[in-house]
Amino acid sequence: MTAAVLPNVETVDVAGVGFGPANLALAIALQESGAPVTMAFHERQASFGWHTGMLIEGATMQVSFLKDLATMRNPGSRYTFLAYLHAHGRMPAFINSKMLYPYRIEFHDYLGWSAAQFDAHTSYGSTVVDISPVQGPDGHVDLLDITTQDADGNRHVQRARNVVIGTGMVPHLPPGVTASARIRHSSQLLTHDFGTPRHGRYLVVGAGQSAAECADYLHRTHGDAAVHAVHSRYGYSVADDSPFANAIFDPAAVDDFYRAPDQTKEALLAHHGNTNYAVVDLDLSQELYRRVYLEEVQGSPRLHVHRVSRLRSCTETADGVEAEVESLVTGEVTRLMVDGVVYATGYRPADPLPLLGDLADECKKDDSGRLYVDRDYRVRTSDSLRCGIYLHGAGTEASHGLSAGLLSNTAVRAGEIVESILRQN
Ligand code: FDA
Repeated sequence: MTAAVLPNVETVDVAGVGFGPANLALAIALQESGAPVTMAFHERQASFGWHTGMLIEGATMQVSFLKDLATMRNPGSRYTFLAYLHAHGRMPAFINSKMLYPYRIEFHDYLGWSAAQFDAHTSYGSTVVDISPVQGPDGHVDLLDITTQDADGNRHVQRARNVVIGTGMVPHLPPGVTASARIRHSSQLLTHDFGTPRHGRYLVVGAGQSAAECADYLHRTHGDAAVHAVHSRYGYSVADDSPFANAIFDPAAVDDFYRAPDQTKEALLAHHGNTNYAVVDLDLSQELYRRVYLEEVQGSPRLHVHRVSRLRSCTETADGVEAEVESLVTGEVTRLMVDGVVYATGYRPADPLPLLGDLADECKKDDSGRLYVDRDYRVRTSDSLRCGIYLHGAGTEASHGLSAGLLSNTAVRAGEIVESILRQN
C-alpha cells in the first residue's frame, strides 16, 4: 500500500460511488439518522436517470410502490412514494387507479424528485475511477482517496472515511456480440435510433421481462413492421410473484439466506430464480400471446415467436442486419434481413475490484474470488484497514440473496449500512 500526500483534500464521512436508487436510499437513511455525518455521492450520468433506455410508456414496476426508497425502513419518511404523490397533488387519483405497481415513468419521476433534494451532496458527470488507501503515521488506513473523472477528462480527489459502492448492474451482451448502430442491448432501446427502416423487420433476443417489453414496444410503435422474438424456451415463462414466493424478498429472508450453508443458498437461488430471471409478467405474456393469435386469425402475422431457437449469427450490412435464426429442434436455419436487433440478454453486477486497485489485496475474497461481504454489507478486510468499504446491492446476491440487485429491500439495506457506519465511527 502507498501513502497519498494530498494537501487540502475535502474529507467526508461517507462517499458513495453511483447515485442510483441504492445510494439514493442511503443518502435518505443517512440524513434521517440525524447523525452529524457528511456525505458526497458521485454519479457518472450527467443527471439523475434510472434505466432511461427502458422507460417505455405504459411499462409498470415489478415491485409494490410500498417498496420505495424509505417506507420499509421508515414509513414516516418524507421521501416515500406516498409523500411524492402528496407533494404532486396526485394522492386521490393514484388511489382511484388501484395501482400497486405504478408506471415506471412515474416511479422514475419519484426517484428524480427524491434525488433532487440531495443535489448539494451529489456530483453528476463524475465517474469514480479509483479508490486508494491513505496510510496514516501508525501504518493503519483510516481514509480512502476517491478519484473521479469529469466529462472533460479532469480528475479530482475526495477523501472519505467510508465508501459505499452502489454501481448497480452492467448490460450483458453474449460473447462475440458487439453493439453497433443496428445491433444493441435492450438498455438502449429508447436512447438510440435504428436509422431509416428498409426491411420492415426487427429482431429481439431473450425470454425475460425486458425481451417481452422490447418485442411489445417495437410491435406497437413501428407501424407495419414485423417483430421476430427469438429465445430458447418453448414460450415466455411467467414470473412467480405469488405471496409465499415473494417472501424471498423480505428483509428477514436476507438473515436466513446469509446464515444458510452454501448448498442451501444455491438451492434457494435455483428454486426462486423464477421470481426475477428470464420470466415475464403474466399480463404482458397473455397480451403478447393474444396478439400473435389475433394476427393468425386475421391472416396477417406480424409478431413471430421463434421458440426453442437461437440467433446463430447477425452481421450488420450497409442497410440492415443479416440474421440467421436456428431452430434448436430441427437445426433448420431461417435467414432474415432486419432493420435492428435488440439483445435483451440481461445484466451482470458491476465488478468493484478494478475500482479498488491495490486495495483489493487487503480485501478478503470468497472461494469464487468475489469480495467477502459481512452481513452488514461491509467488505471484510485486513486489520490494517480501519475505514469502511461497503457493497450496496448488486454483487451481493451470492451472499445476501435474490433481493440484492432489486428495489425490494433497498430501504432496509440502506438503513443497515448506515447503522454499521455509525457503529464503527
Ligand atoms: P443502478 O444501476 O440503478 O444505479 C447504479 C448507478 O451507478 C448508475 O446510475 C450508474 O450510472 C452509476 N455508476 C456506475 N459506475 C459508476 C462509477 N464508476 N462512478 C460513478 N457512478 C457510477 N427492480 C425492482 O425491484 N423492481 C422493478 O420494477 C425493476 N425494474 C427494472 C426495470 C429495468 C428496465 C431494469 C434494467 C431493472 C429493473 N430493476 C427493478 C432492477 C434494478 O437493478 C433496480 O431497480 C435498481 O436500478 C437498482 O439500483 P442500484 O442503485 O443498485 O443500481
